[in-house]
Amino acid sequence: MSLNPKILRVRSSRLAEVDLDNLIFGETFSDHMFSMRYEDGRWGSPEILPYGPVPLPPASIALHYAQTVFEGMKAYRGADGAIRLFRPKRNAARLRASCERLCIPPIDDRVFVDALKALIAVDADWVPALPGYALYIRPVVFSTEDHIEVRPSRRYRFIVVTAPVGRYFTSGGGGLSLKVEEHYTRSPAEGGLGASKAAANYAGTILSSEGARREGFDQVLWLDGRERRYVEEAGLMNVFLKIAGRTVTPPIGDSILPGVTRDSLIALLRDRGVPVEERRIAIDEVLAAARAGTLEEMFACGTAAVVAPIANLAYRSEAIAPREAVPGPLTGALYEELTGIQFGRTADPHGWTEIVETG
Ligand code: COI
Repeated sequence: MSLNPKILRVRSSRLAEVDLDNLIFGETFSDHMFSMRYEDGRWGSPEILPYGPVPLPPASIALHYAQTVFEGMKAYRGADGAIRLFRPKRNAARLRASCERLCIPPIDDRVFVDALKALIAVDADWVPALPGYALYIRPVVFSTEDHIEVRPSRRYRFIVVTAPVGRYFTSGGGGLSLKVEEHYTRSPAEGGLGASKAAANYAGTILSSEGARREGFDQVLWLDGRERRYVEEAGLMNVFLKIAGRTVTPPIGDSILPGVTRDSLIALLRDRGVPVEERRIAIDEVLAAARAGTLEEMFACGTAAVVAPIANLAYRSEAIAPREAVPGPLTGALYEELTGIQFGRTADPHGWTEIVETG
């Protein structure tokens, strides 16, 4: 590995205190974090440090103007004991694209992947060996220069923290219940930030998702910003529907995140000879299919949530439910196939996984 970060280890690990049975997503962090700084026009000073607070000047542009981007990934421990990353180069490329969109100096893909591997090697014992669990990886890049003029910062920090996680949704296999959001949007149409993993995109979702939660839903289903007519994403995830034997998903564009899980599921479906239509899907088409009995399955996908069946959509006074019992056969098969590759249970014909050397 060429990166060679300086390593400062914790005096004693917190791992023994972790109760995997009662983990809450994203609340327990492993012992160490990776850190790198951008100063004087270059990224440098890679370090692995004890997990802890990162000093930020009060006038930092990250705080005032959200010049912050992040990624979401996982490390998986297989039955063979090996730790695998899943398509890390895709996340590296997407982080680069997000950095470019937010005017942040991009991080070299190789440096990004080496940083993750070095950190996970140090905290290898934190990658859970229990089925269904993984080590969630959260890389984040933010500006640290002390000024409040709206312009690109001259200093940045790249941090990677990791967290052992189980299921993202506690609603289990019963499927997600989503409220179709007709007022707020995740991404305001073309030219916005919707296709990048900008922190600001996520801040804008909290009001809707909290409102939906208070009404008893798991999340919202987002419609497009221009007409509130076309399905875009499900909460923080991409979305797929099976209608009259055809698998459809909204096309990637300015307002939809190019999900790594989304792309992988499309490839797995095409491997099986199942065509996937990447096209706009009007909410009225979904409603009409449900009424006609041709809405077979619905599922959401993302790194955190994996493949999550959707049990119903609340749209105005209608309850839209798929015909198949939840999880439907396609949803279940895709979950098994994807996690089979991620955990090394099945062959990896696309060469998506990369082993983390821990020795
Ligand atoms: C992920 O699925 O990893 C995400 O980044 C979405 C979310 C947990 C913010």
